[in-house]
Amino acid sequence: MFVSNFAWAGVRWRHLLPLSFCGALGLFALILGATHASAPVNAALPGDKPHLGVATCAGSTCHGRSEADGKIVRQDEILRWQEPSSPTGAHSRAFAVLNNARSAAIARRLGLGPATSAAMCLGCHSEPASVRGPRFQQSDGVGCEACHGGSAGWIEVHKTGNHRASLAAGLVPLENPAAKASVCLDCHFGSADGGQFVNHRIMAAGHPRISFELDLFTTLQAHHDEDADYVQRKGRTNGAKIWAVGQAMALDRALSLFSSPTLGTEGPFPEFYFLDCHSCHRRIYDSQNFNQTVADNPARPIPVGMPPFNDENMIMLSAAARIVAPAQAARFEAESKAFHGAFARDRNSAISAAARLRATANALAAAFQSASFGRDQSFAIIDLIASEAINPRFTDYEGSVQAVMATDTLLNALVNTGSVPAANAAAIRSDINRAYAAVRDPNDYRPADFRRALGSAVRTIRTLR
Ligand code: HEC
Ligand code: HEC
Ligand code: HEC
Ligand code: HEC
Repeated sequence: MFVSNFAWAGVRWRHLLPLSFCGALGLFALILGATHASAPVNAALPGDKPHLGVATCAGSTCHGRSEADGKIVRQDEILRWQEPSSPTGAHSRAFAVLNNARSAAIARRLGLGPATSAAMCLGCHSEPASVRGPRFQQSDGVGCEACHGGSAGWIEVHKTGNHRASLAAGLVPLENPAAKASVCLDCHFGSADGGQFVNHRIMAAGHPRISFELDLFTTLQAHHDEDADYVQRKGRTNGAKIWAVGQAMALDRALSLFSSPTLGTEGPFPEFYFLDCHSCHRRIYDSQNFNQTVADNPARPIPVGMPPFNDENMIMLSAAARIVAPAQAARFEAESKAFHGAFARDRNSAISAAARLRATANALAAAFQSASFGRDQSFAIIDLIASEAINPRFTDYEGSVQAVMATDTLLNALVNTGSVPAANAAAIRSDINRAYAAVRDPNDYRPADFRRALGSAVRTIRTLR
């Protein structure tokens, strides 16, 4: 049952990545560089206004064209959002999946009525009930306004095409990596708002694991082109930067929800959702020739037998910080370690340690937003992820999955900025695929094999430096 979510890694990425290497196809082309927009990291998004519904965006002079022939934006965004079988169209199917057999089984095990009317599901598979306007249709699933913001406040000024004025009226600045991360994480990690949290009980009832990496998922769902026009209006985006900011925002979100008195606990326990799943879901051997499956982890000062906090984002941030924000790296390192230690003591110490670590994660996100993430930095980060300093921390499944996504994302960023020729990148695909293979089946995860596969992929990448 742990296999489900990773299906897209093994299967869909394989199709996606070779495509994105040949940027000429345009479909997944990313044009990378520095992002212009730089709102403060934790800027509260303006209070959401009523959602007028996808139909409101669908005019043929708006986003409802059948061809991507718009002057500024494609204008066929609705068609792309509706793609029937690709990840790009996943959000238009979000409500429909609540009708499928898997949802019915989850709802039955949780003792809910139909999933299609359960608040516990609708928070992420539809849009909030409190903001539904007259033309809103629940069957649209996660519509335009779930990400771009309720349009009641900005639709009129938006029709004039003035982006800046629309932003002032409440259109969400999705070109800003931190603002975007905050929107996605509401559903692709969880939030304290009603119906936006998949706790361990929902997972144990059969909900797929939630796995997320901001840059990769942005690419998978993109319904826009980063063409010359985009670059002129918004500046070049930089996949490495989006990746790093996404890691910092994800850690911030995890620590913040863990600190919540309601979401952070379940019965007498900490909420298991925040922990490293396979630290509990390992195989156990009771025989005489007991074979320990727990690997030593130098960055987690906790006794064996204690489930650790899921540190996938901490590991990635540790690499990004050392290269891009070295002045803060040592503090981040010390605070991560202190947090693990405190987590093994008691909840109160863990919450205080979480507050310190969150502050540093936010400082890192701010530093990343104004850093260049150029060729040298991206190469250095890839290198560091597999290096002696970081590699021994891949003792568990979740962190290893992030490492593969990072290697892939950063390599893509190098290709898309022209720092690595596409032909060379294609040549090391088989190495990266071996690293993917090592994490394909969570029940068959072998840390040592994984570290070898990643090391080999990174050695090849190093030759391109
Ligand atoms: C925190 C947000 C959130 C909540 C709450 C939530 N889900 Fe999901 N659900 C997701 C995300 C995100 C995915 C996609 C996971 C992925 O592929 O990365 C998903 C995937 C699924 C899938 C698999 C879809 C497929 O294409 O096979 C089913 C089924 C599902 N959810 C049902 C439910 C049900 C039933 C509930 C309520 C009990 C629920 N979800 C609550 C976010 C949520
Ligand atoms: C899951 C979140 C999400 C949903 C749902 C969504 N979008 Fe987007 N949209 C984005 C993101 C992220 C971008 C990229 C923004 C950027 O980089 O400036 C984007 C970009 C766009 C752009 C291009 C902006 C530009 O400056 O080039 C248009 C137009 C757009 N979306 C319209 C729509 C419409 C219409 C819908 C509904 C059919 C929709 N979006 C649904 C997240 C979403
Ligand atoms: C309101 C909740 C919500 C928000 C906000 C949201 N998503 Fe999703 N997303 C979902 C759900 C639910 C699914 C699963 C739907 C399904 O299985 O059809 C999903 C699926 C996806 C998928 C397909 C994953 C796969 O395994 O095929 C991608 C990619 C994705 N989202 C990216 C994003 C990005 C990037 C953002 C932010 C710009 C974002 N999402 C914001 C709810 C949301
Ligand atoms: C602190 C230990 C612990 C952690 C961490 C943990 N689980 Fe569990 N999990 C359990 C226990 C205990 C059960 C119930 C087993 C039983 O009743 O036999 C369970 C049950 C499950 C089941 C149902 C298994 C079955 O055979 O029906 C799933 C699925 C599951 N967990 C997924 C996850 C995921 C995904 C994560 C990470 C987000 C996770 N668990 C983290 C302890 C844990």
